[in-house]
Amino acid sequence: MIKLTPPMGWNSWNTFGENINEKMIFETADVMAESGLRDKGYEYLVIDDCWSLRERDENGRLVPDPEKFPHGMKAVADYVHSKGLKFGMYSCAGNMTCAGYPGSYEHEFVDAETFASWDVDFLKYDYCYHSPILHGKYLYRRMGLALENCGRDILFSACSWGADETHEWIKETGASMWRSTGDIFDTWDSVKDLVAQQEKLHPYNGVGCFNDMDMLIVGMKGRGHVGLKGCTDEEYKLHFAAWCLLESPLMIGCDIREMTEETKAILTNPTLLSIDQDARCNRPYILKFGGNNDYPIIVRNLENGDVALGFFNLSDSPANLWVPSDDLGVPFLQGKRLEGTEAYTGKRINAVNATLSASLEPHTCEVYRLKITELP
Ligand code: GAL
Repeated sequence: MIKLTPPMGWNSWNTFGENINEKMIFETADVMAESGLRDKGYEYLVIDDCWSLRERDENGRLVPDPEKFPHGMKAVADYVHSKGLKFGMYSCAGNMTCAGYPGSYEHEFVDAETFASWDVDFLKYDYCYHSPILHGKYLYRRMGLALENCGRDILFSACSWGADETHEWIKETGASMWRSTGDIFDTWDSVKDLVAQQEKLHPYNGVGCFNDMDMLIVGMKGRGHVGLKGCTDEEYKLHFAAWCLLESPLMIGCDIREMTEETKAILTNPTLLSIDQDARCNRPYILKFGGNNDYPIIVRNLENGDVALGFFNLSDSPANLWVPSDDLGVPFLQGKRLEGTEAYTGKRINAVNATLSASLEPHTCEVYRLKITELP
């Protein structure tokens, strides 16, 4: 299945780890529908690792844990679908999943059939305990083909963390998104590290197969499975803005049943969602202000001719960042300039002659959706 813009949804792992069950999944589906998240584009509800029994059944099929999912997975899928959402599940290219449940190695086709029989719409496919002999590209090719042949449209979400040069072969497999980096944690350092890693990886982003920068930590506030220290709301704003400018899939990872208004406002910011989901899917580019990794300026040209421009201060001190409009392809000497407002605050871009700039506190950003206009 081809999804032409970055997939959006919610995933159980960041907050719940192995503590998943039918009740909290149903409640999450309710909130996705009722809070407006679904209508903003968050359409996939994905159950991550730890949903099955530790053994396959006598026919070699995966079995949902009856204590966690007493009505089985088809019933969960039916409930999720009844809320106007799509249903995602998880497996692994190795013998076991990362948490030690059965993986799909040498069961790829039967597992794809099983997922199809439960009306699954999305499969996240991890890379733990994979064969030391078979290269990852063969394992992901297999599951890609198994899904294409299972009789149902199932979006393939590859999760090999960028290992074994994933970027070189992942687009062969039919994956719609690929985890380009290791796991996110709910800390500022983790956000900063994942943004920095895109410097080398963002050229591999592309229509229909997006660099997945991992599930969002917005709103976790140190709670849950990857909770750790937590971040401030300003740091979560920067995190969300970077994922949107870099065209990442957006999979919410907090417990949305307890989401604050601030968290919801970040996750549903209309300007940032319009940038992430821009239909043109142009590749972003990154300018390093002053040649320094702490001050990326991330840019993406949008479908209607607008320019998305983000100034990021990843350092621990205040900073003034600026960029000549000519560097963005907007020639001042031809009487062209950029105008527009900031995504979170609505303030107008600071543009003096041919230069655009932002004064930023530590760990903050400003992101603008700009139009090209004529100089007065
Ligand atoms: C990791 C993966 C995480 C989560 C976890 C489950 O490999 O990157 O996103 O799925 O496994 O055990």
